[in-house]
Amino acid sequence: MLTSKIAFITGAGSGIGRASCQLLAKEGATVIATDLKSSAAEATVKSLPGTNHVSMGLDVSKDEQVQSIFSNLKAQSKVPSIIINCAGITGDSFLVDATKDVFQRVVDVNLGGTFSVAQNACKALMEAKSPGSIVNVSSIVATMGNVGQCSYGASKAGVVGFTKSLALEMAKYNIRCNAVMPGFTDTPMVQAVPEKVKALILAQIPLQRMAAPEEIAELILFLASDKSSYMTGTAIPISGGLYS
Ligand code: CAA
Repeated sequence: MLTSKIAFITGAGSGIGRASCQLLAKEGATVIATDLKSSAAEATVKSLPGTNHVSMGLDVSKDEQVQSIFSNLKAQSKVPSIIINCAGITGDSFLVDATKDVFQRVVDVNLGGTFSVAQNACKALMEAKSPGSIVNVSSIVATMGNVGQCSYGASKAGVVGFTKSLALEMAKYNIRCNAVMPGFTDTPMVQAVPEKVKALILAQIPLQRMAAPEEIAELILFLASDKSSYMTGTAIPISGGLYS
């Protein structure tokens, strides 16, 4: 059970982020659900069991917004000990058609956002001398690669390197840091993929289906909880057998 734990989740308004909020809340955690769209984060909180959860609008690529949220939490003596970095975007196109601006935006959100949230969370945990668990949502594309995803793949590979380095720095404070590498999951992000490409992708998945967001959330819950107390610095594929 996660009773008495505060969980801070980005990208909480849909998909894997929302499913993680629901599972963590079911296990007793108090959830701080953040999303670029504050209304989506609010809808997630409305779907949770329990009453102490809060929602906030947050653009994780804006370091000053992340800092401001963590300083407000500190003022309320709230220290999240579970951090789920789930906020992510795609900017899919063939490299030859890509723009540097889109590449930069994808990296700023997926990798820069993970950096800012993890940095502020670690500072708060160290100051409170509290253990913690950070779970970063990477992607199977980090290691597999994918047509049309040079920007996204680079950002998610960056998340894996970031996770492993942070795990080494934080181990002595008992702050663990792991990554999950989901395959194709039934979320708004994957639903936006053209149907003909989706069919090509499905044909390559050994389990012959997309994941449900709840299946990814189960692994996130495990890594967030003390059940994984001896795990840090890992990046775990959860992809229905695709490039595992
Ligand atoms: N494998 C094989 N062929 C592919 C392919 C793939 N993964 N993706 C595209 N192609 C092929 C298309 O079938 C098409 O072939 P034909 O010319 O024979 O029809 C050709 O490449 C051109 O594709 P489009 O017509 O779609 O070209 P476009 O310029 O309009 O768009 C694209 C290109 C933006 C890359 C588009 O194909 C696309 O969005 N692809 C999906 C990319 C993708 O898989 N994104 C995953 C998002 S989910 C996610 O990222 C979550 C996660 O962590 C896994």
